[in-house]
Amino acid sequence: MATSTLAKAAEGGAGTATVRHAARIEHVSKSFNGPAGQQHVLDDISLDVAPGEFVTLLGASGCGKSTLLNLVAGLDAPSSGSITTDGRPALMFQEHALFPWLTAGKNIELALKLRGVPKNERRGRAEELLELVRLGGAHGKRVHELSGGMRQRVALARALAQESKLLLMDEPFAALDAITRDVLHDELTRIWRETNLSVLFVTHNVREAVRLAERVVLLSSRPGRIAREWRVDIPQPRRIEDTAVAELSVEITEQLRGEIRRHGQH
Ligand SMILES: Nc1ncnc2c1ncn2[C@@H]1O[C@H](COP(=O)(O)OP(=O)(O)O)[C@@H](O)[C@H]1O
Ligand SMILES: [Mg+2]
Repeated sequence: MATSTLAKAAEGGAGTATVRHAARIEHVSKSFNGPAGQQHVLDDISLDVAPGEFVTLLGASGCGKSTLLNLVAGLDAPSSGSITTDGRPALMFQEHALFPWLTAGKNIELALKLRGVPKNERRGRAEELLELVRLGGAHGKRVHELSGGMRQRVALARALAQESKLLLMDEPFAALDAITRDVLHDELTRIWRETNLSVLFVTHNVREAVRLAERVVLLSSRPGRIAREWRVDIPQPRRIEDTAVAELSVEITEQLRGEIRRHGQH
C-alpha cells in the first residue's frame, strides 16, 4: 500500500504537464571566497536526471560532490548557471540527522506533519513507511536504541515521507559496515524499483556507484567538472560482487585514478 501511494506521488497528480526532468543542472559553476582567496569548486556542470532515473555522482573527496548536491537541494545558490527540479527534493545524508528526543515513528510523523498530512493519518502512514524500509514495529523505538543501519532506514523512511519526486543522497551509507551497507543497497534498489523516484546519489565508492546506478557520472577535482559518464546496463537486482559490477568498477577506478593524478594530492 505504501508503495502504490509513493508511486502515485512520484508520477505527479492527474493532469500534470509532462515533466521531462527530475533535475536539470545547466552550466553550473560555484566558487567560494575563503581566507586563501577565491576557490573555484565546480566548473560548468550540466547534468539532467530523468524521471525515475538513478544517477550516481562519483568523485574523490573534496571534488565538490556535496557542494553540487546542496545546490540541487536549494541549500545554496550557484555562482552561475541554473538548476531546476521537479518539485522540492528530499535529502538524506551520511549523518541520519534524526531528532534524538523523538521516537523513530515520531521522526517520520514530523515530516508528514510538515507536508500537511492530517494528524489522524500520520501514525498509519509512518507505520507503512517503516514497513517499507523493513522496520515494522519500530515506531516506538528511540533513536539511541537503533543500530547505525536501522537509523539510516528511519532516515530513508523520513525522506520518503516527503513524497518528493527526487531523492538526493549524500554518501548515506558511508559510515556503515560493509554487510549493513550491502543490505541497504538491496533495500534502496527495491524501493527505487517499486516507486517512480528519481535518485541522485553521491559517493566516493566506485563499487557502490556501479552497484546502484543506471548511470554513473564521474567528477574530476579542482575544479569539479564532469569527466565522463557510463550507462550501467547490468540487470537489477545486482550484487556488489557480481563480475560485471567488478569489471566496470575496475574501468571507472582507472579513470578516477587518472583524474586524481592530474589534479593533485588526496
Ligand atoms: N561553504 C563553503 N565555504 C567554503 N568552501 C567550501 C564550502 N563548501 C565546500 N567548500 C569547499 O569546496 C570543496 C568541495 O567540497 P565538497 O563539496 O564538500 O566535496 P566532496 O563532497 O566531494 O567531498 C572543498 O575544498 C571544500 O573545502
Ligand atoms: Mg561530501
